[in-house]
Amino acid sequence: MREQIQALLDETKAALDGADTPQALEALHARYLGKKGPLSALLRGLGQLDAAERPEAGKRINAARAEIESAFAKREARVKQAARLIALSGETIDVTEPREDYQLGAYHPITIILDELVELFTGMGYEVVEGPEVEYDLYNFELLNQPKHHPARDAQDTFYIEDNIVLRSHTSPVQARAMLSRKPPIRIISAGRCYRADEADATHSPVFHQMEGLYIDKGVGMSDLKGTLETFAKRIYGSDVEVRFRPSFFPFTEPSAEVDLTCPACGGKTGCRVCKGSGWVEVLGCGMVNPKVLELCGIDSAVYSGFAFGMGLERLAMQRFGIPDLRWLFEGDARLLGAGRNGARADGIEGRRGL
Ligand code: PHE
Repeated sequence: MREQIQALLDETKAALDGADTPQALEALHARYLGKKGPLSALLRGLGQLDAAERPEAGKRINAARAEIESAFAKREARVKQAARLIALSGETIDVTEPREDYQLGAYHPITIILDELVELFTGMGYEVVEGPEVEYDLYNFELLNQPKHHPARDAQDTFYIEDNIVLRSHTSPVQARAMLSRKPPIRIISAGRCYRADEADATHSPVFHQMEGLYIDKGVGMSDLKGTLETFAKRIYGSDVEVRFRPSFFPFTEPSAEVDLTCPACGGKTGCRVCKGSGWVEVLGCGMVNPKVLELCGIDSAVYSGFAFGMGLERLAMQRFGIPDLRWLFEGDARLLGAGRNGARADGIEGRRGL
């Protein structure tokens, strides 16, 4: 029995020395320590020994099992360590390797325009205020002198959420909110998303951005409005840009005007698809705040007057960066983000011209 056990120990150890992988170890474990293995057979054979010999033999067998188990554990640690070294050697990092090229981030053209407008108007004493995009009909229309069934409502294809709740179709509701919550002098600007049920084309999008301005005080006149908007146009576009005031109509201003700038795509010389051949694009609506609106919003129109303007930021960005199609601004094309960098113009963007 003693020799038998010694032989088993020798055999197991020799086999272990040859096992290099976890799989090989597992197979050996099953062979030597499993239920059908030689140790189990020896234990089973105890019954045939004399009762006096059994305890001693049992001890030996158990000692042999302990020895084999510890030899397995040692070998397993070795094999694992070796496997780790092999895996690591395949994962070396070359810290001297040059990095892959990547594009720098940049501000979106709308953000650039908005930042400039905010800087310009806050510099003239305007305060930035905000209003909700989901708006009551009351602010979007009624307080702006457009009661229900007023024909001017048809000019803006408004998205209705409920009878009295809309997606704001312009930033003008913020005017009403400002007049109701403040006392003159009031000088505010407000920018954000607006919504109209328009088909997307080169100059329209169902979601777009406007910035609104409102100035109310004693003795504010049309000349103040013109001066302010001319300053704005020249400051943002440079002294070359031409500005045109055209009489217009808005229910909330009287008199009203539209302001056009020379066309972004053709420079106003030839006429093109963007300006529909006219050489001009409309960027802004404005006028003197209608006295009815002042009264509806709790301001004494015998004492105060004011002007308001609302502009489309997409069109301003197109004008500024030479972007011929408004849809580009919403497509997430990274090349467009380069438009504002170093004053580059988007018409330099390869391959986008003939869209
Ligand atoms: N809200 C008008 C529009 O969206 C623009 C506007 C604003 C006109 C303020 C006059 C005064 O078309």
